[in-house]
Amino acid sequence: MAATNVAYALETAEHDPEIEDINAEAFGPGRFSRAAYAIREGGPHRRDLSFVATVGGKVVGSVRMTPIAAGGGRALLLGPLAVRPAFKNLGIGRKLVALALDAARKDGWGLSILVGDAPYYAPLGFSIVVPYGQLAMPRPVDPARLLACELVPGTLEGFVGDVVHAERANRE
Ligand SMILES: CC(C)(COP(=O)(O)OP(=O)(O)OC[C@H]1O[C@@H](n2cnc3c(N)ncnc32)[C@H](O)[C@@H]1OP(=O)(O)O)[C@@H](O)C(=O)NCCC(=O)NCCS
Repeated sequence: MAATNVAYALETAEHDPEIEDINAEAFGPGRFSRAAYAIREGGPHRRDLSFVATVGGKVVGSVRMTPIAAGGGRALLLGPLAVRPAFKNLGIGRKLVALALDAARKDGWGLSILVGDAPYYAPLGFSIVVPYGQLAMPRPVDPARLLACELVPGTLEGFVGDVVHAERANRE
């Protein structure tokens, strides 16, 4: 499979069943107990900032962006990011992250955070949140996996406290 056969597009509601299937395959039932899942349960993700990779019209990779809040700060939670096993190591994951971050920047966001592997995400602009205690996730997270990418320098400083879905913060 050549990377040139892969198309990228904004996510639509029609992609939902395939994305659910890809995430189930990538993360298994354990995904429901993760901190990021608990935050995402608080409200919808932003389809206009979320992307799919397709091959022959079938979804082979997906990344979603969800608006979140901590204190007065706002950010986008990146994830889940998943690529079908048969299509790994073609640069699809990297491209999906780049597209999502670029769309976020153009939409005026200053910060994206995620829970994931630093060795994968560091070359894509993410680094470990220090100090870890700055953010309280709804479920335990390995501090080495809580990562942030500042789209506007200095925005992480203002993102402090309990991390919740932005709609939940707006309601409270
Ligand atoms: C992680 C994942 C999205 C990467 O997608 P992908 O399209 O295969 O990634 P890319 O082709 O952009 O990048 C491949 C490179 O990343 C590396 N890589 C993949 N997973 C990695 C990880 N967890 N940690 C460090 N490096 C990783 C590969 O070894 C490869 O390295 P190379 O370019 O030096 O050969 C995909 O493997 C996946 O769906 N995994 C299961 C779900 C998951 O773990 N998601 C991320 C956590 S939110």
